[in-house]
Amino acid sequence: MKVLVVYATRHGGTRGIAERIGEVLQADGFDAQVASADKAPRPDSADAVVIGSGVYLGSWLKDGTGYIERNQVSLAKRPVWLFSSGPLPGSSKNTTVNDPIEAAFGPTDGPGSGGRKRIAALSAAIHPRDHVVFQGAYDPNDPPRSMPERFLRIMPGSKDILPAGDFRDWSAIEAWADGIGQALRPAIAVG
Ligand SMILES: Cc1cc2nc3c(=O)[nH]c(=O)nc-3n(C[C@H](O)[C@H](O)[C@H](O)COP(=O)(O)O)c2cc1C
Repeated sequence: MKVLVVYATRHGGTRGIAERIGEVLQADGFDAQVASADKAPRPDSADAVVIGSGVYLGSWLKDGTGYIERNQVSLAKRPVWLFSSGPLPGSSKNTTVNDPIEAAFGPTDGPGSGGRKRIAALSAAIHPRDHVVFQGAYDPNDPPRSMPERFLRIMPGSKDILPAGDFRDWSAIEAWADGIGQALRPAIAVG
């Protein structure tokens, strides 16, 4: 049974998560292929698809949303799991927010809600089995890869908004990947 794991990353943190998910699924007996969203094959020959993106300023990266958009019809016909990698624990941005989706994307309405609305609309089109948010990683020594990122990093208080460190929770990631394997296993038994 083929599982395609697609990721969109800017600094590599999400690629690491996707690779770990692929390893867990492989160890669970699946034929897992991990690919970056800009080069990933169409999902047509996959039995299930996992798609994840890093979150920047409340939005998925364009490669991630673009992959879903291009392949909406095919994705809607197969089991899909989504993950977002974002929140940096201790960030002054999230102190009062308990809901992980809200911590990553911000509020459902009002200024800055565009990224969340977009992922909600794409989810409505492909109805994923789950959308989980994993904590991310931020290395201030890795040079910025976009203009807004450059500005945010030099803003006063940026160290409070972007705490440095690798906060990826590998046991949570592995448990989630195992759960995907368990959900797909009955389909293997049927053939
Ligand atoms: C400029 C900048 C903006 C960010 N904005 C958000 C955000 O809005 N929500 C969030 O949860 N994480 C945010 N993060 C944290 C990233 O999502 C986190 O570092 C993630 O692991 C990045 O994934 P990547 O390494 O795959 O690019 C931001 C990080 C940077 C550097």
